[in-house]
Amino acid sequence: MASRFYVTTPIYYINDVPHLGSAYTTIAADVLARYHRLRGDETLFLTGTDEHGLKIQRVAAEKGMDPKAYADGIAEKFRETWPRLSCSFDDFIRTTEPRHEDHVQALWRAIRDNPNKAEPNIYLGHYEGLYCVGCEAYYTEKDLDQPGNLCKQHKTPVETLKEESYFFRLSAYADDLLAYYEAHPDFVQPPGRLNEVRSFIKAGLQDLSVSRTTFQWGIPVPDDPRHVMFVWFDALTNYRSAILERPDREQLWAQAVHLVGKDILRFHAVYWPAFLLAAGLPPPKHVFAHGFLTYNGEKMGKSLRNTISPVALAEAISPEVGVDVLRYCLMRAISFGQDGDFSIRDVLQRYQSELADKLGNLVNRVLPFDEPSRQGRAERGPLEQKLQAAYEAGAEAAAKAFDELSPTRALDAIWGVLFAANDYVDKATPWASNKKGEWDKLATFVTTTLELLDGVSVMVAPVMPRVSAMIRERLALPPLVAEVGADRWPTTFPTRPLGAPFARLGAIFPRFEKEREAEIIAEFTPKAAEVPALPAAEAKPAAEAKPAEPAAPPEAKGTVAYDDFAKLDLRVGVVVSADRVKKKDKLLDLRVDTGDAAPRRIIAGIAAAYAPEALVGKRVVVLCNLAPRDFGKGLVSEGMILAAEHGGALSVVTPDGDKPAGSKVS
Ligand code: MSP
Repeated sequence: MASRFYVTTPIYYINDVPHLGSAYTTIAADVLARYHRLRGDETLFLTGTDEHGLKIQRVAAEKGMDPKAYADGIAEKFRETWPRLSCSFDDFIRTTEPRHEDHVQALWRAIRDNPNKAEPNIYLGHYEGLYCVGCEAYYTEKDLDQPGNLCKQHKTPVETLKEESYFFRLSAYADDLLAYYEAHPDFVQPPGRLNEVRSFIKAGLQDLSVSRTTFQWGIPVPDDPRHVMFVWFDALTNYRSAILERPDREQLWAQAVHLVGKDILRFHAVYWPAFLLAAGLPPPKHVFAHGFLTYNGEKMGKSLRNTISPVALAEAISPEVGVDVLRYCLMRAISFGQDGDFSIRDVLQRYQSELADKLGNLVNRVLPFDEPSRQGRAERGPLEQKLQAAYEAGAEAAAKAFDELSPTRALDAIWGVLFAANDYVDKATPWASNKKGEWDKLATFVTTTLELLDGVSVMVAPVMPRVSAMIRERLALPPLVAEVGADRWPTTFPTRPLGAPFARLGAIFPRFEKEREAEIIAEFTPKAAEVPALPAAEAKPAAEAKPAEPAAPPEAKGTVAYDDFAKLDLRVGVVVSADRVKKKDKLLDLRVDTGDAAPRRIIAGIAAAYAPEALVGKRVVVLCNLAPRDFGKGLVSEGMILAAEHGGALSVVTPDGDKPAGSKVS
C-alpha cells in the first residue's frame, strides 16, 4: 500500500519577491516531493503566501495600493516563479483565500471553546510590548540587540505597542509540549535542534497575544470583529486549511512535514503544536529547520540586498540545464540543516567537476563503443559484480537519506555510485577491448554502464528532473512517470538488452568557455556600481581642521531640470549602529533607519570626522536610490549620507526638528 507524504514550505511574506533564500526552501520541498512521488507515495506539496499583517498593510499604503490588490500582484509572482525552478507544488495557498479564512476562524473557535484546561484557552487582556513589524512579533529586551532595542534579525529598533488583545494561554501548555517531544523525539529535525526548543520552553512560556486592534488587514476574530488575528496564528493555520477543504487529503495530516528556516522554528515547534493541542488536534509529524543561505557570511534576503535572482542565474548557466545545476548545487553544497555560503564560483566548479566530469562524461564514455559492442555477448564478471554492489548500496543509502529528509546525504550517496562507475570504466579499459576485438568484454562494459545510467537517471530525478529526462532520452528509455502505488526507486541494478537503441545527442553539460565563466561570475556577484568617489576620501580629522574660513563658491555645475532633481530619493535617516571597518581607517559601517522594513547599510567615509558612538541616534539625510557600491569583503553600501565639506573637514547634514525616519527630503 502506498504511503503518504505531505510537505510544506513556509508561506512567504509578500513584501519581497522570490529570491535565492526563499527558493532554497521551495527547492528542498520539491526535491522531497518528487522523491516520494517516485516511490509511489500519495504526495502533497504545498506552498503559498502570507498576506496579512501590519507590514503588508504598510507596504501597500506606501505604494498607494489596496492591500488585496497589492497582494494579488506579488502572490502571482511567487506562483509563476516556482515552476520556472521546476518546483512542482500541488497546491498554492494564500491567506486571503476564503478556504483559509474560514478554517482559521474555525480553529480559533475550537481552541476558545475547548474546555480542556481549568481556565479558558483564549482570554481578553491588554498587551504592551516591544514589537518588531518586520517579524510581526513581540520581543522582550533580552531578545533584542542592545543598546537601542534592535531586532536581531532586522537590526531595526522595535516599537512599543499597547493594545487590547486576546491572549492564548500558552503558559498552560509547557508540560504538554515537553511531554509531546518526549513521546515524539523525532518531531523536531534535525535532532540537534530539539534542545533549542526545549530550552525556550524551560525558560518560561508567556501567554501569547493573538489579536490586534491597531490595524485592520487581517482575519477578524470570531464574535469580536474589532480585533484581527495575530498574523502568525493566521499563517500557521495554512498548513491545515489546504487539506481540510478536501476529504481526500485529510489523512495526509499525520504525515505532514514542515520545512522551515531556523529563524521560524519557535513558531512551528512551540506555538503551532500548542495551538493544535489546545484545539484537541494532533501536531504535524516533523518540523525540519534548515539553515540560512548566506553570502559572505550574511543571510541572503531583501533586507541585506545581497540577493541573486535564481531564475536569471539558472538561465545564465544554461537555458537547458541551468535550473537543475542550481538545484543540485543548493542541495549538495550546503548541508541541509546547516548554514552555508553561496558562491557562484563554487557552482561553476561543481558544474565541471561533479556534473560534467562525473555524470555527463559517463554517458560520453560509452558512446564510442556502442556500435562495436553489438557484436559481442554481455556477461557479468567480478568487476561488474563489484560495481553492482556499490550501486545497490548507494541506491539504498540515497533512499534512506531522502526518507530522513537529507537531500545532501542522498546526493553524496548517488555521487558515490558515479565515482564507482567512473572507476569501473578505468578498470574495464573498453578502449583496449575495442582494439583487441574483445567484443564480449565490450558488450559487458556497454551494457553494464548503460544499466547503471538507467538507475542513476531515476535517482537524480528528484533533484534534477530535466537532466534525468535528458539521460533517459539518450538511453531511449521511456519518460519517468510517477504513479501512486508504483515504486520506481531503482534499488536493484537495472537490466537492459544489448543493442537497445542509444541516441547520439549532444553533451548534457557542455564545457564553459573561460570568458563565459568570468561573465557569469561578474554578473551574479554583487558588485561595485558606478558611483562617485566618497567625498570623505581625503578627509582630515575634524580636530585638525582649520577654523572655518569663508568657503570659496563651489564650482558651477550647470543647472538641472526639476524632474532630474525629483529622481533623487532623499530621506531622513536615523543612525541605529555604527562600527569601524577593519583595515579601512576612513570608513564607518552604518545601519541607518530610512523607514524601510529593515535598516539600510551605508558605508561612509566619515571615520576621520566622527567617532562611531557619536553617530548612533543622529538624524541624517540619506540619498537612498544611489546605485549600491561594493567596497569588497561583503561591504556593500546602499546609499549615501549627505555631508558638508570645508577645508577637508566633514559634517553630516542633519534635518531641523524631529521628522521621523523615512520622511521625504526635497
Ligand atoms: N511568513 C513567514 C512564514 C509563515 S509560515 C506559517 C515568513 N516568511 S519569510 O518570507 O520571511 O520567510 C520564509 C522562509 O524563507 C523562512 O523559512 C526563512 O528562513 C526562509 N529564508 C529567507 N531567506 C533565507 C535564506 N537566505 N536562506 C535560507 N532560508 C531563507 O517567515
